[in-house]
Amino acid sequence: MYRLLPLVALSSLAGASIIPQQPLAGSSNPEAPLISDSKELVSSSALEAHITKENLLKRAKQLYKIAEEGAPEYNHPTRVIGSQGHISTIDYIYSTIADLGDYYEISNQTFDAVVGNVFEWRLVLGDTEPESVLPFSLTPPTKNKDAVFGPLVLVANDGCDESDFPSEVNGAIAFIKRGVCPFGQKSALAGKAGAIAAVIYNNERGSVSGTLGEPSKYHVATFGISNEDAEPYIEKLEKGKIIPSSAYMDAIVSKAPTTNIIAQTKGGDPENCVMLGGHSDSVAEGPGINDDGSGSLSLLEIATHLVNYKVNNCVRFAWWAGEEEGLLGSDYYVSQLSEDENLKIRLFMDYDMLASPNYAYQIYNATNAVNPTGSEELRNLYIDYYESHGVNYTFIPFDGRSDYDAFIKHGIPGGGIATGAEGIKTKEEAEMFGGKAGDWYDPCYHQLCDTVDNLALDAWVLNTKLVSHSVATYAASFEGFPKRTGITARASSELSLYHGPKLVM
Ligand SMILES: *[C@@H]1O[C@H](CO)[C@@H](O)[C@H](O)[C@H]1NC(C)=O
Ligand SMILES: *[C@@H]1O[C@H](CO)[C@@H](O)[C@H](O)[C@H]1NC(C)=O
Ligand SMILES: *[C@@H]1O[C@H](CO)[C@@H](O)[C@H](O)[C@H]1NC(C)=O
Ligand SMILES: [Zn+2]
Repeated sequence: MYRLLPLVALSSLAGASIIPQQPLAGSSNPEAPLISDSKELVSSSALEAHITKENLLKRAKQLYKIAEEGAPEYNHPTRVIGSQGHISTIDYIYSTIADLGDYYEISNQTFDAVVGNVFEWRLVLGDTEPESVLPFSLTPPTKNKDAVFGPLVLVANDGCDESDFPSEVNGAIAFIKRGVCPFGQKSALAGKAGAIAAVIYNNERGSVSGTLGEPSKYHVATFGISNEDAEPYIEKLEKGKIIPSSAYMDAIVSKAPTTNIIAQTKGGDPENCVMLGGHSDSVAEGPGINDDGSGSLSLLEIATHLVNYKVNNCVRFAWWAGEEEGLLGSDYYVSQLSEDENLKIRLFMDYDMLASPNYAYQIYNATNAVNPTGSEELRNLYIDYYESHGVNYTFIPFDGRSDYDAFIKHGIPGGGIATGAEGIKTKEEAEMFGGKAGDWYDPCYHQLCDTVDNLALDAWVLNTKLVSHSVATYAASFEGFPKRTGITARASSELSLYHGPKLVM
C-alpha cells in the first residue's frame, strides 16, 4: 500500500503553482493580466456549451475498445479491477488529464483491494438441496475447499451477539436469521463459535445474497437461502429434531493493488474545494459503459473543458477504483484524509450511471436532517436545474449504494444524480420520462450488454450539462453554501442496507 504523491501535499503544490509565471516588471503594459487571470471566470452557461453528444459518444466508443482488452482473460469485454480493461481505463483517464498541461495536479492513489471469487458451491440440509441457495460475496471456502459435514443448528435471536450462538454451533452449520446487523458480523460470530459454515435465511420473501464485506479471520463459508425454504427446517429444529447437513464452497478471497486517480485544479482556493467523482471500474460480467462509463466520462469531458476557465475555488475530480467490490476506492480515499484535509472538501458530488436506456432523472434524497449540512442545498441545485429545464425528476434513497457513502459518514456534505439501475420503472414514471413501465431502468445493468448501445444519449447530454452546472456553480462561489464546521458524522444512527451495489445486511 503506498501513495505516489501524498494527497496532503496537493494544497501546498496548488498554492505554489498560482504564483505568477512571468514577472510583470518590464512589461510594456503594466495592466497586462497574469496568465492565470487572463481566463474568464467559469460559468455554467460557458461550461455547458462545450458539452456535445458527439464528444461523449466518441469517448464511450473508446472506452468500449478499452474494455475489449479485458477479453483475452475474461472471454468478454470487462473493466473489472485487476483486468487489462481496468488498467487501460486508468491509463486513458490519466493521460487525458496529463495531456491538458499544467492546469491540474494529478495523483495516483494505489491501495490494496480485496477481491473474491466463488467458483462452486453446494448446500445439502437433511436430504434436500434448497433451491434458493446462493453464496455470499467475499465468502471464504469451506475447509480445504472440501465438503464439510455437521448438524444444522439454529442460532437465537438475530445472531448479532456472541450469546446468540449456542455451544452446539461448535463443529456444526449455523442457521441464522437475516437482519439487524451485517451479514459479515453474523458469519464472524458463527466462526468464533466454531461453526464450519453458516446459512443466513431471509427475513422477507425471496432468496438473499449480498457481501460479507471486509474479510475477517473468523468468517466461515456463508450461504443465503429464502425464508420459504428455511421454514420447514426451523420447524423441525424447534421441535428438537437433528438435521445432518453438508456444505461445500470453493472460493478465494485475495488482495490486489488498484488505483484511484485524483485531479485537482492548481488554481482556485485550495482550502475550499468542490469534489466530484465517478468510478473507473466495471463488474467482471461486462464492459460497464453506462455503469459507470457514463459518469466517469462526463467528468473527463468536463475536466478537459474546464481548463479554458479560471476558478475561484479548487475543483477536485476523482475516478474511484473498486466501487463494484464495495466502494473500496472512495472508502480508502476518505479514510486517508487528515482532519485538516477533510475540512477542505466543502462537498462531494457522486455521478454514477447517467445514461440508463430506460432512464428516470433521479436525485438522491439527501437532506440536512440526516446528512451533513449542505447535502440538501446540493439536492436543491439539482431540483432547480431539472425544473428550469422543464423535465421531471424523482427522489431516490441516499442509502449507501455508491461512492458518496464514506464522505457523508465522515461529515462531508454529499449528493448526486443517477438514471437508475436494476429498479423497475413504474407506470407513473413512464408518463414522466417516457420509456417502458415494468422494465429495469437499465436492462443491461451489470451485464455483458452494457455497451455503447446501452446509453440514452439525450439523458446523458442533459445530465452532463447538469454536472457542468454543479462544477461551475461551486467553482465560482460557495456563497450561500453552508460552511464546514467540523467532522460531524451522518446524524442517522441506522445502519444502511447497502455499502456499494451489494446488500450488506
Ligand atoms: C500514475 O498512473 C498512470 C496511469 O496508470 C501512469 O501512467 C503514471 O505513470 C502514474 N504516475 C506516477 C507518478 O506513478
Ligand atoms: C426525503 O428524505 C426526508 C428525510 O430526510 C423524508 O422526510 C422525505 O419523505 C424523503 N422524500 C422522499 C420523496 O423520499
Ligand atoms: C412530466 O410528467 C407529467 C406526468 O406526471 C407529464 O404529463 C409531462 O409530460 C412530463 N413532462 C415531460 C417534459 O416529460
Ligand atoms: Zn456504478
